[in-house]
Amino acid sequence: MSNAIKAPSIIIRDIELVSEMRDVEALQKEVWGSDDRDIVPLTIFAATREVGAILIGAFDGASLIGFAYSFVGRENERMVHHSHMLAVTPSHRNFNLGYRLKLAQRTRALAQGINRMTWTFDPLQSLNAHFNFAKLGVVADAYKINFYGEATSSFLHQIGTDRLWVTWSLDSQRVRERLQTKDRSRASIPDLDRIACLVRVGPNNEPQRGQSSEVHGQKYLSIEIPADINTLQRESPELAVRWREATRWAFSEAIASGYLIEDFYGSSRNDLSVRVYLLSNGKKVEDFS
Ligand SMILES: CC(C)(COP(=O)(O)OP(=O)(O)OC[C@H]1O[C@@H](n2cnc3c(N)ncnc32)[C@H](O)[C@@H]1OP(=O)(O)O)[C@@H](O)C(=O)NCCC(=O)NCCS
Repeated sequence: MSNAIKAPSIIIRDIELVSEMRDVEALQKEVWGSDDRDIVPLTIFAATREVGAILIGAFDGASLIGFAYSFVGRENERMVHHSHMLAVTPSHRNFNLGYRLKLAQRTRALAQGINRMTWTFDPLQSLNAHFNFAKLGVVADAYKINFYGEATSSFLHQIGTDRLWVTWSLDSQRVRERLQTKDRSRASIPDLDRIACLVRVGPNNEPQRGQSSEVHGQKYLSIEIPADINTLQRESPELAVRWREATRWAFSEAIASGYLIEDFYGSSRNDLSVRVYLLSNGKKVEDFS
């Protein structure tokens, strides 16, 4: 860890000044590469903060190097915070700042009497999947095809904007346990080789589809993704599109058949590094609340 980004020098606090909301606009452009049209403007931050939105920054001195933004919503007749954005500038990643921002968001939502947070993420992004499932303890029960349209100006959105819809049950036992666990190697990894797999990482990182019939009558299913979709996409955009199509099919089939996405693991098979979603049948988000 370089001196410049030693954790104690980073302060996590609410963003209240309009000038700092301008900095959030700039950070969105840096992290997502989006043009003006595709960012959330300060006017929305200022207005929604007045009615419960949470806008938190990570500051290195006076510099904004990360932020989290969520607003109040209603889902299935209950109040939720919907976390629309979380970002850390590339030079400051992997220092737990994303995690600290989520913890601060959680504390503030609970203080408002809201114990459920939702957000979306691209299920092909393995870092985000690890962060969401393993570090935070979310579960997912919906898959949204091209949630923000077929593409946006962001370089992260060039193979469509399919998203998993995740729920973070803020004061559940599962989440409290995840947040207390320092060792995420998780001794109790299920034997993934014995679980039917809907999509596998094949030779040359090709997606290999299983049979639709495999979704029936199983307790668990798995869906694999490549360890690094961003490099794969740079090297072969066409292969990345096929990964989108294969995983869209797999998640949609499984969810339609009553599965919920429960966890995410790093694994290796025949010297190949793969990442695996674990899906379970017959459970509901409420079972993890
Ligand atoms: C997602 C993001 C906010 C995480 O911020 P961060 O400060 O780096 O997060 P943390 O340091 O708390 O955690 C990162 C975790 O990912 C792991 N990680 C890093 N690179 C990884 C990779 N290629 N594959 C899998 N996991 C990876 C780290 O090891 C760490 O997990 P660990 O604590 O179990 O070791 C940041 O990467 C980001 O801004 N990304 C671009 C925008 C985005 O995708 N936003 C989130 C949408 S849900």
